[in-house]
Amino acid sequence: MFSVGIITASDKGSKGEREDVSGMVIKEMIENEGYQVQEYKILPDDRETLSNAMINMADDNNVNLILTTGGTGFSMRDWTPEATKDIIHREAPGIAEGMRYHSLQITPRAMLSRGVAGIRGETLIINLPGSPKAVKENLEFVLPSLKHGLEILIGKASECGQQQK
Ligand code: MTE
Repeated sequence: MFSVGIITASDKGSKGEREDVSGMVIKEMIENEGYQVQEYKILPDDRETLSNAMINMADDNNVNLILTTGGTGFSMRDWTPEATKDIIHREAPGIAEGMRYHSLQITPRAMLSRGVAGIRGETLIINLPGSPKAVKENLEFVLPSLKHGLEILIGKASECGQQQK
């Protein structure tokens, strides 16, 4: 079973001024697929705070997957992609490209998410946009391919020969 850390980037959420519906959507969707949510944090939109939380989840708590929500847009407080790029070792651009490709068929505003994906050690990190709707639309597109990617990342699978949807 793969372990997951969820990070909601939200100034208001971190102060208890907004309910974190998006974090709960991630939790429900990922648990339905058999993942185990090991950690869940609501943090302010602060680049260093977000980077440090990702490092802690990846290096100290060894989660297989970190899903962030929020902070991917154009606001002066949106720093999640930069916080992620600061600490990943390798980019996984196809995941972000795939999510935007899928999302653009739903709304042209999908182009406004700057979310990235990448790998730190044996942990995959994916930025999702902030709204519950966007979380659902993005996550449902990547979920079918994620376990295969994670198996390759931890060395449990090496063959991609079997074509799957
Ligand atoms: N992607 C999907 N699939 N559905 C959406 O409704 N909203 C967009 C975009 N991506 C959206 C989406 C909008 S309106 C914005 S501003 C950006 O995500 C950034 O969102 P964030 O700043 O909350 O991370």
